[in-house]
Amino acid sequence: MSSTQRPLEESTHRVATSGDLEVSAYLEIAREKRGEQPVPEGSRPGPGREAVVVLDFGSQYSQLITRRVRECNVYCELVPYDAPYERVAALQPKGIILSGGPSSVYDPGAPLAPSYVFESRLPVLGICYGMQLLAHQMGGKVGGSARREYGHAVVHQSDDSPLFHALPTSINVWMSHGDQILELPQGFRTLAYTENAPIAAMGNEHGFIGIQFHPEVAHTPQGKDILRNFLYKICGCEGTWTASSFMQDSINRIRAQVGTGRAICALSGGVDSSVAATLIHRAIGDQLTCIFVNNGLLRKQEAERTLGTFQRHLHMNVNYVDASERFLARLSGVEDPEVKRKTIGEEFIRVFEEEALKLGKIDFLAQGTLYPDVIESVTQENRAAAKIKTHHNVGGLPRQFNFTLIEPLRYLFKDEVRGVGLALGLPEEMVWRQPFPGPGLSIRVIGEVTKERLDLLRDADWIVINEMKKAKQYGEVWQSFAILTPLRTVGVMGDSRTYSNVVALRVVNSEDAMTADWARLPYDLLARISNRIINEVSGINRVVYDITSKPPGTIEWE
Ligand code: XMP
Repeated sequence: MSSTQRPLEESTHRVATSGDLEVSAYLEIAREKRGEQPVPEGSRPGPGREAVVVLDFGSQYSQLITRRVRECNVYCELVPYDAPYERVAALQPKGIILSGGPSSVYDPGAPLAPSYVFESRLPVLGICYGMQLLAHQMGGKVGGSARREYGHAVVHQSDDSPLFHALPTSINVWMSHGDQILELPQGFRTLAYTENAPIAAMGNEHGFIGIQFHPEVAHTPQGKDILRNFLYKICGCEGTWTASSFMQDSINRIRAQVGTGRAICALSGGVDSSVAATLIHRAIGDQLTCIFVNNGLLRKQEAERTLGTFQRHLHMNVNYVDASERFLARLSGVEDPEVKRKTIGEEFIRVFEEEALKLGKIDFLAQGTLYPDVIESVTQENRAAAKIKTHHNVGGLPRQFNFTLIEPLRYLFKDEVRGVGLALGLPEEMVWRQPFPGPGLSIRVIGEVTKERLDLLRDADWIVINEMKKAKQYGEVWQSFAILTPLRTVGVMGDSRTYSNVVALRVVNSEDAMTADWARLPYDLLARISNRIINEVSGINRVVYDITSKPPGTIEWE
């Protein structure tokens, strides 16, 4: 197996799900080093709020189901298929969804739905493997179909069901299955069929529904309507989960949790820590102090702008620490990217510790951890998201710190965090910021990091951001940035020969940073970026465009 094909679990490469993960990760590892397992207060909906649970049988789409349900304004959590009843019951769900999965119900050791699914009397939607489980465990028959179905199919309704409320009788769907239902369990009716699957949807009068297709993927254009019908027409949900209801709930919860205590928060200027800090500030005002460490590896004007937003506009207590020199001194002579990362993690904890000690007694530590960072998925990719933590050899926090965690975003997806950020009145520029790695520009200056090289990169990067925004491309791509290579090449400027640095431009499209492809930017835009960098940044005489996808490349160069 080549190194690019190694399973993610074994891979030593980091996987980040958000630009702010680092700040959270540094602090979390430091706590774990002390032997503490964080048991944070969640930000689940309070009593009386609606929820639906997705049991994860390992489909690559499980998270997507959860997101789609939330897009229908119903709170939803993804839990492993064997989660104990108490965990599910704590959410007081109005319905249960069984995800798809790679197994066949007759495989030895195939994951089965727990008994509470059948005993709780809640409506159940089984999707693909979830449908086959319903059939199998309720006495029907599942078997291999004569023709496997992968890709587009047309589903025709054959019986009335609220699941298809207000939908045409035939709809395009996305299929991906080998097995199918051969015999219905007792009490079930066929609701729809396809050319190859006589039972493409089934249901009984207790609100148990099975569908062979995937409503959660974009290839099923009316999939969200189907999910909404299940939630509203079958589970009786009303759709009360919105960014502002979440905001209000969280503010109340944080107030109750913190009481008269004091909290600190490490601010990075990224979306997650910014939204977390602002939410907590709304709840407890000056009982919150933010610590903003400038590690000298930020982009041009980033420190000033972040401070401006939080101190001047939002009137928050922000302790700004300019630790650039310390960080740069520690990085002196370091070329290895993983050593850069570890050094930065270590130093961050030391600086944070010193600053926190100056504040006297602090009871709470606020973090912007997100749902994809903590989700216990049964699929490889999601487990790999936690991997980033193992990369940082950050020391533990000293004993005198005995913080309780506040993680108000622990159950939110990134797009929901953005929604809350907007509801809180944060500037669009901050809410729509592209991910930026914790080690900052240090992993974009290839080789040794010096102040001079950082400044050179900052100037080039500034032009990239500026031109991407002007061309309305900044928000369209996952990340767009410049890299300062250790290469020098010959050029001519005016009448003289130059021999200076090469900058690489990296612009990628991605859904989640796990895979990415280089963006097909308009040539004119590439030309403008290149011309401006070469004309305006003295010390750079050549710009190249990186056309490597991930895998086999990574997004960052180090
Ligand atoms: P790669 O380079 O692994 O990047 O394809 C995937 C995503 O993660 C970000 N990244 C990091 N984020 N600390 C972070 O907080 C890191 O050490 C780190 N390395 C990469 C990268 O910007 C991309 O979004």
